[in-house]
Amino acid sequence: MSGVTRLIEPVRTAAVVVRPGGIRSRVGWMFVLLTALAIVAYSAVPYFTASLESLADSGAAGLADTYAEKPALVQGALYVHIVGGATALLLGPLQFWRGLRTRAPRLHRWTGRVYLAGVGIGGLAGLVIAPSSPAGYVGFFGFSALAALWLVTGWRAYRAIRRRDVPSHQAWMIRNYALTYSAVTLRIWLPILLLLPLVTGQPFDFDEAFANAYAAMPFLAWMPNLVFAEWLIRRRGLPSYRLPV
Ligand code: HEM
Repeated sequence: MSGVTRLIEPVRTAAVVVRPGGIRSRVGWMFVLLTALAIVAYSAVPYFTASLESLADSGAAGLADTYAEKPALVQGALYVHIVGGATALLLGPLQFWRGLRTRAPRLHRWTGRVYLAGVGIGGLAGLVIAPSSPAGYVGFFGFSALAALWLVTGWRAYRAIRRRDVPSHQAWMIRNYALTYSAVTLRIWLPILLLLPLVTGQPFDFDEAFANAYAAMPFLAWMPNLVFAEWLIRRRGLPSYRLPV
């Protein structure tokens, strides 16, 4: 067996198996749902309220000033990306809701297909816009890696359920939604890192602090999420990964 195959070999861990449905799970699920709703309302919806040019002038949408100058293909990809990403972000929590899975399995299957379509088009469009990131090469590599992993984990989740392997499907969906949720964690990390110089008493220049904080986002937005996802997968006794020893 090659080193790479060993690295990604799924294992059933001996960790304590925690069944979802406890109070902590419910609070966590509600937190994820509310933060997903807030991010779609606050950072995705504004892009559909005016043209990129006027949004760039008013400053009403995050990166409108970056994308107002880009070719039509990149602008189109940005809109496709936002629609696909927002769809996945909002539908994801429904897919993890056990009540819906058991009471309405057909609905779960259909929303699952729409979720994966959102990931598919959002991820492909993400690959088109990544080279335009104001974070330069770091943005290109970090967001492209995120988009590639988003597509691969979605595909693995789909393949697993097609062969009726429910535990693997659940594990891949947890990884996939952890990546989708990077849209939220990015917008939590960014203000923290932006304001850190103020807290630590360093001289504060907004543009410099923003560029510095944003440079960390293409990797910081999703890497901790994947670690957390793997912890959650083990805690639930689902097929996890192990590092070669
Ligand atoms: C998980 C895979 C994702 C990838 C690879 C990805 C990639 C990107 C990239 C490369 C950009 C441009 C950033 C830049 O120029 O620096 C972007 C912007 C954006 N993405 Fe995503 N994204 C993902 C998920 C999502 C999700 C789930 C949403 C749902 C709301 C979303 C909403 C947005 C929005 C609204 C923007 C515009 C920038 C802003 O105003 O903050 N993305 N994304």
